[in-house]
Amino acid sequence: MTAQFGDFQNEIYAGGLRGLRPGLPMTFDDLEARAEPALPPSIWSYVAGGAGDEHTQRANVAAFRRWGLVPRMLAGAARRDLSIDLYGMRLPTPLFMAPIGVIGLCAQDGHGDLAAARAAARTGVPMIASTFSVDPMETVAAEFGRTPGLFQLYTPADRDLAESLIHRAEAAGFGGVVVTLDTWVTGWRPRDLSTANFPQLRGFCLANYTSDPVFRVPGEDVSDTVARWAKIFGNPLTWDDLPWLRSTTKLPLLLKGICHPDDARRAKDAGVDGIYCSNHGGRQANGGLPALDALPGVVEAAGGLPVLFDSGVRSGADVVKALALGATAVGIGRPYAYGLALGGADGIVHVLRTILAEADLIMAVDGYPTLADLTPEALRRTA
Ligand SMILES: Cc1cc2nc3c(=O)[nH]c(=O)nc-3n(C[C@H](O)[C@H](O)[C@H](O)COP(=O)(O)O)c2cc1C
Repeated sequence: MTAQFGDFQNEIYAGGLRGLRPGLPMTFDDLEARAEPALPPSIWSYVAGGAGDEHTQRANVAAFRRWGLVPRMLAGAARRDLSIDLYGMRLPTPLFMAPIGVIGLCAQDGHGDLAAARAAARTGVPMIASTFSVDPMETVAAEFGRTPGLFQLYTPADRDLAESLIHRAEAAGFGGVVVTLDTWVTGWRPRDLSTANFPQLRGFCLANYTSDPVFRVPGEDVSDTVARWAKIFGNPLTWDDLPWLRSTTKLPLLLKGICHPDDARRAKDAGVDGIYCSNHGGRQANGGLPALDALPGVVEAAGGLPVLFDSGVRSGADVVKALALGATAVGIGRPYAYGLALGGADGIVHVLRTILAEADLIMAVDGYPTLADLTPEALRRTA
């Protein structure tokens, strides 16, 4: 019999019989508490912080508490199937690692993009590699093993550079391009403002630019590179730009940051292959709407297109709820950055396994053996 994700707990209890306890945290709260002292203060505040007074960031998490899964008995859930199909990729889990632009800096060795890629190879959980990277995308993709990866694009104002980045992603073997729409300008982030810290302006995580034939100027001073980068980074795209973006690649094209059904419909009409419902973990606009509340409307409007979701996912229970509300795949953000800070690739693998084990065991206990069984009918609003 093939292993189930929930078997992770047997491994831990068996270790206990030999006097072993997990060296890494079992809950998000513990993970967060232990990650803080493990990271330099400027990286910690950049990762943990969000926009404004961080109300949206907290609301993202709280929104999951307003849903409860209805237990069903005698359902024959002895074996669960959490695998999904995404653009022809058969994935063992419905999870993915959301793009995190400073993931490189969250690793003790400064190469967190590579550690995340190695964790993807070990778990089958795909990584969406950010445009912001310590190591160039080709080096990151080389660590994916048999797990496919996706490339996240911050579309630069220079179209030649945008096309070059997309074509490099194709050549490196990425299985899709995720265009992030909500970050052509940085949101108002008091934690970073109070320390006057923005990593990219200090020259960090720009390897995809400095390795790009369109952008690169050999021998250039870092400060000049940063100045040129700052000029081309943000591109306030409009619907008129979508035909061009669509024409740049035959790879599946997904739009990240969609939270309104009309935007999802319009994106579908423009020929994109997937919608990514997210509010950037509350880092961009402190508007107050939890991303989870936007999910059902976006799923309906997407009319059968895959809908990826992130923002506020902290546990296996959250994953199950997002799937029941219609997400095709669920993105883990800050938790894997904290796992990385504590234990490198092993730390990420641990975090992903704990989330998967809990999701699997909830499906077992509550009688939902397959993802098809997880529908909105499985959920009730709680008081
Ligand atoms: C430190 C940090 C950096 C991020 N960088 C990117 C990025 O480069 N590209 C992107 O599309 N999203 C980025 N995001 C947003 C994540 O992809 C995701 O939407 C968010 O982390 C989800 O919220 P959660 O971590 O609270 O669950 C970043 C998030 C964090 C925490």
